[in-house]
Amino acid sequence: MLTRSATVSRSCVPLPEPAATASQAGPRRISILGATGSIGESTLDIVRRNRDDYKVVALTANGNTEALARLAIEFDAEFAALGDADKYSELHAVLEGTSIQYGAGEEALDEAASINVDWTMAAIVGIAGLRPTIAAMNATNTIALANKECLVSAGSVFTRAMQDTCTTLIPVDSEHSAAFQAIDASGAENIETITLTASGGPFREWDAARIASATRAEALAHPKWSMGPKISIDSATLMNKGLEVIEAWHLFPVEPNQIDVVVHPQSTIHCLVSYRDGSVLAHLGAPDMRTPISFSLAWPRRMEVPVPRLNFAELGRLDFEPPDPERFPCLALARAALERGEAACTVLNAANEVAVQHFLDGGLTIDGIARVVEATLEAAEKNGTIATLNGIASVYAIDTQARAMAQALL
Ligand SMILES: NC(=O)c1ccc[n+]([C@@H]2O[C@H](COP(=O)([O-])OP(=O)(O)OC[C@H]3O[C@@H](n4cnc5c(N)ncnc54)[C@H](OP(=O)(O)O)[C@@H]3O)[C@@H](O)[C@H]2O)c1
Repeated sequence: MLTRSATVSRSCVPLPEPAATASQAGPRRISILGATGSIGESTLDIVRRNRDDYKVVALTANGNTEALARLAIEFDAEFAALGDADKYSELHAVLEGTSIQYGAGEEALDEAASINVDWTMAAIVGIAGLRPTIAAMNATNTIALANKECLVSAGSVFTRAMQDTCTTLIPVDSEHSAAFQAIDASGAENIETITLTASGGPFREWDAARIASATRAEALAHPKWSMGPKISIDSATLMNKGLEVIEAWHLFPVEPNQIDVVVHPQSTIHCLVSYRDGSVLAHLGAPDMRTPISFSLAWPRRMEVPVPRLNFAELGRLDFEPPDPERFPCLALARAALERGEAACTVLNAANEVAVQHFLDGGLTIDGIARVVEATLEAAEKNGTIATLNGIASVYAIDTQARAMAQALL
């Protein structure tokens, strides 16, 4: 059974002094890790509409030089960093002669993340976001966490880093932002369950044989959310919900058996928190990430966001159904990893990242993702890879071994 060394709950997150918020203290300095992605673009859309309130300090991407340079120039960023060191000359060619400092490679990412700002959006996809996010914590930046994989992979190493640096973390994942808002001040002992909703993804009504022959384009065509490729595939397999169960366990003061998942195809309710007096507090909103992103940016206030408003008469009904473990085994794999311990979660995430990339590259069917993850977990159990996490080096060691095992299985 997994034990936590740290629990980050709403009541543990210190409220900032009102004076520290935008309207009273001038522009807030912000950085965006993963600025060229879906979350990064949505974040910058909000900033673009509120230019006087925010000063963009650092922006990062991996290899998308053109988009990073364009955004850095548009927002007059102080520093732009690419993760891919080989792209340095491309970035140099575009940004040389501007006032923007720039770099490429792991150290440049860390340098960008390490700049002290008021707020950092952690929106790099995958475990690649772990080191920069911890660098941003070390700089005492408030973290808006979209990058769930770094929390799933590093578990207590991540939450201990939060505690050691007194980091204020605001969840950005829509379900976790919703839970953060629906958990009241009555105390953890009053919470019975946290129910995360899942849209069901593009294959909700497909039979297993049809899912097995799904194309890349079909898997990427999410019915409700517009997202980057990795999370879109995770949504199609329901691994995303499994990662979110693990994320919720780290963020909120509940046990794994208090975290439920329900399929809700309209994606109108994002999370429900049930209390011991029979009350259920739900968070509703249009499926647009600008709402949870803006919440993390304006918290503890709220800001005007031009997302579609809910019209309940037009909505008419809200549907719910249990997730199907036969067609979507990834959710149960994630729950099993959570029960097994946090190193199993590191293995789960690594194997999933490898398998998803392989599917996107055309080398695996979508139902093969669960098989690769399950087989990697079994192999890791047998050869002793699933050990205790006792620092960032152990996270990377287990992640590297699990990736090699998953590759070998492929
Ligand atoms: N999209 C959503 O609606 C949504 C909702 C909830 C949570 N999330 C979470 O937010 C994170 C980002 O998702 P996304 O959909 O925005 O992904 P995305 O569209 O694929 O964007 C990923 C960003 O990370 C950068 N990146 C990728 N690999 C990198 C590496 N090795 N080193 C440094 N930077 C790297 C990309 O740069 P390049 O453009 O140069 O490749 C891009 O800026 C994920 O953890 C996801 O689970 C997303």
